[in-house]
Amino acid sequence: MKTLKFCTLVHEYPNLSELGEDDIKLVEKAIESAAKSYSPYSGFRVGASVLLDNGKIICGNNQENSAYPSGLCAERVAIFYANAQFPESRIISMAVVAKSNEKITNKPVYPCGSCRQVMIETESRFQSPIKLILPGNDHVHILENVSQLMPQGFDKRLLP
Ligand code: THU
Repeated sequence: MKTLKFCTLVHEYPNLSELGEDDIKLVEKAIESAAKSYSPYSGFRVGASVLLDNGKIICGNNQENSAYPSGLCAERVAIFYANAQFPESRIISMAVVAKSNEKITNKPVYPCGSCRQVMIETESRFQSPIKLILPGNDHVHILENVSQLMPQGFDKRLLP
C-alpha cells in the first residue's frame, strides 16, 4: 500500500497592483461582469473573465432562475460562451470575482465543484494550463493551472 497526497499551489499577493497589466485588466473585466449578473435570489454577484490565445477577453456572470437548479455559475457561462464562439482558442487565463452590490469579497472566492470539472476538462482538452486569478480585498490568489483544483476529477480519457 502506498499513500498518495495531492496538493494545490497557491500564490498569494497582498493586492491587485502587484499583478501584471494583463491580469489586472482581466480582473477588471470580471468585476464589470459581476455587476451585470442576474442574481436576484442569492444576491451573490459572480463575474468570470477569460483571456483567449487570440487576445480576446470573454466574460460571463451567474444567471439565476426561479427554478433554482436551472441557473448557471459565472465560470461556466464564460467558458461555454468562449468555447462556443472560438472553439479552436485556448484559454490562457481566467479571473473569478464575487461581489455584493457594493464591493468584492474580502477573501478570494473559489469555483464550485461543477465549474472545476468544466475547467479541468477545458484545460486538458487544449493541453494548455489555465492560469486562475482569484481576487479578494484582503489578498489575491493565483494558481498556475486549474487541474490542481480538482485532483482525481472525472477524466473520460481513462475509459478503456
Ligand atoms: N456561483 C457562481 O457563479 N460560481 C461558483 O463557482 C459558485 C456559485 C453562483 C451561483 C449562484 O447564482 C450564486 O453564486 C450563489 O450560489
